Amino acid sequence: MATDKLDASLEKEIGELKDEGRAKSRERIIEAYIPPRGEFGPRYRLAGSDKEFIRLNSNSYLSLSNHPDLIRAADEATRDFGVGPGAVRFIDGTFAHHAALEKRVARFVDKPAAKIFNSAYTSNCGLALAISNKATHWIGDQLNHNSIIRAMRISNIPSPNKGIFKHNDMDDLKRCLDEVGEDMERVVVIFDGIFSMRGDYAPIDKIVDICRDYEGRFRDGVVTVVDDSHGIGAYGDRGRGTADYCGTTPDIIVGTFGKAFGVNGGFIAASNAVVEAVRQKADTYIYTNPLSVADCAAAVKALDICDSDAGLDRLARLKQRTRQFRQGLAGLGLESIAGPHPVVPLMVRETAKTHELVKYLFDNGVLVVGLTFPVVPKGDETIRFQINAAHTEADIHSVIELLKKFK
Ligand SMILES: Cc1ncc(COP(=O)(O)O)c(C=O)c1O
Repeated sequence: MATDKLDASLEKEIGELKDEGRAKSRERIIEAYIPPRGEFGPRYRLAGSDKEFIRLNSNSYLSLSNHPDLIRAADEATRDFGVGPGAVRFIDGTFAHHAALEKRVARFVDKPAAKIFNSAYTSNCGLALAISNKATHWIGDQLNHNSIIRAMRISNIPSPNKGIFKHNDMDDLKRCLDEVGEDMERVVVIFDGIFSMRGDYAPIDKIVDICRDYEGRFRDGVVTVVDDSHGIGAYGDRGRGTADYCGTTPDIIVGTFGKAFGVNGGFIAASNAVVEAVRQKADTYIYTNPLSVADCAAAVKALDICDSDAGLDRLARLKQRTRQFRQGLAGLGLESIAGPHPVVPLMVRETAKTHELVKYLFDNGVLVVGLTFPVVPKGDETIRFQINAAHTEADIHSVIELLKKFK
């Protein structure tokens, strides 16, 4: 049966998204990676254009995607084991590379165990399925990533068992905890480590302390979960992420291999019992093929690099370039949100000007993301710049010079 009637309805729905300003723009296609030359870092060519672009919209903070050691590791794993696992994990789809990556990432974030997923998105959804029972109450930050919001929805908790606190507002977190019903057995407090639209971070030390005060009220306590997808690898003195930066230890850490580590895939790191519950109950882990051995081998290599002197050098370079960019914005009198993370928002605070500036940068070979209403509240229109370790001093200088010329 043809989908003519469905197509017509869907086209109408997509039209409504466009009218509301919520439709995604056309996807650009990267056709070529151009390695660093002279004093400049890598460039990219897009389909339909001869121009070379610098990416200031990539999450690859340590710029490891093109690292020869990662490519070699992926290549060797593929030659030894092939390109696909042939089955899900519990039906003999578990290869040595999956087990090795789980061990390696658990050690990296200092937890007893870890499970890897195809993405951080499916990790959050899997976690919710694994640790929720009928008497679980979830509490989250207002600005949590979509994957956490979706995870809370698919865990099928009734809406009274849910609380949302104002962004990074500890009094409001306490209000949410005070409102949890006496009949609840476990409480989960979940939040982004780094808020990816703003580059600011959760005060995890304060959150953990507050949750500890409420611990005794519930049979299974108050469990803290950080999704530190933008922090792990890129934040803190050793790239251990936001919790380490805040000097604390939340109970469960969710992360991705697809940002600072430059590869793909997600993970949950926690106690042995939580990780075994994930293996037994997380549908997004159980009923889907795992990452390729190539991804796993490359991710292990990325973690090894992070722990090496070369990795620490990269992190130091990332910090320097981020500082240079932030100082450049401040020197032009442009508004940002303070903080050391390589996500650097430029607060434009006007829709038309945001679109104009994104286009100006694009026309001059710079890829960035503009965030306008309804993605952000009116008045908070922003351009998000993301610095990475492959950006050079000359790259950052040239972007600041472009901003200077923009009227
Ligand atoms: C907090 C957070 N969680 C999860 C994700 C998704 O990561 P992945 O691409 O590994 O699914 C993102 C990325 O956008 C994120 O910012």
